[in-house]
Amino acid sequence: MLDTPIIIVNFKLYSQASGKNAIALAKHLEEAALESGKNVAIAVNSLDFDNVKREVNIPVLLQHVDAVGFGAHTGRINLELAKEHGVDGILINHSERRLKISDIEYLVSKAKELGIKTIVCTNNPRVSGAIAALEPNFIAMEPPELIGGDISVSKARPEAITETIEVVKRVKDVPVLVGAGVKSGEDVRKAIELGAKGVLVASGITKAKNPKEATLDLISGLV
Ligand code: G3P
Repeated sequence: MLDTPIIIVNFKLYSQASGKNAIALAKHLEEAALESGKNVAIAVNSLDFDNVKREVNIPVLLQHVDAVGFGAHTGRINLELAKEHGVDGILINHSERRLKISDIEYLVSKAKELGIKTIVCTNNPRVSGAIAALEPNFIAMEPPELIGGDISVSKARPEAITETIEVVKRVKDVPVLVGAGVKSGEDVRKAIELGAKGVLVASGITKAKNPKEATLDLISGLV
């Protein structure tokens, strides 16, 4: 599960990737994974999780889990519940869902205890170095200003990728993924050449006319 190199598609709350569309999209991505023999995982919202998980055989992650145990917490979900539902991993601290460092630490260590894989998102090399000390399974560095845009992190900020990998390695050998604006196999190839172990992508797939083809194109860069 979550072997590298990997492409992780974050469904966010795009209408094209929510509800019934989440299941259809997940199946397209599963097809792309099976045809190519490469690693593709998806991150869905908690309402869609069970329906999607039931339908596909690729790793299904949650986009967010709250840093709480069971108890009086209205409108929250926790790692224990995520485990009961068969989660394959969780995103933590996405740019669109930032957390306090103490909550990130709680989630990473609790997930470890429960055997759940963690991908902690960061916004730059220095924050990545700080997060590496917590020893998550992966760090995913995404410059916030490039998220949702058309210019990829590999093209616009290659130095941020190499610096993140260097800084992280100095602290702990945590594999680094990168994301933001990734749209093509070329973007993926460049990220991998720079030392990343995979990419996190959203709009390049969720908004594509043919998501399966778009995924196969990204996969072509997983050299
Ligand atoms: O989690 C991945 C995401 O933030 C990147 O979004 O739309 O730039 O691929 P996007």
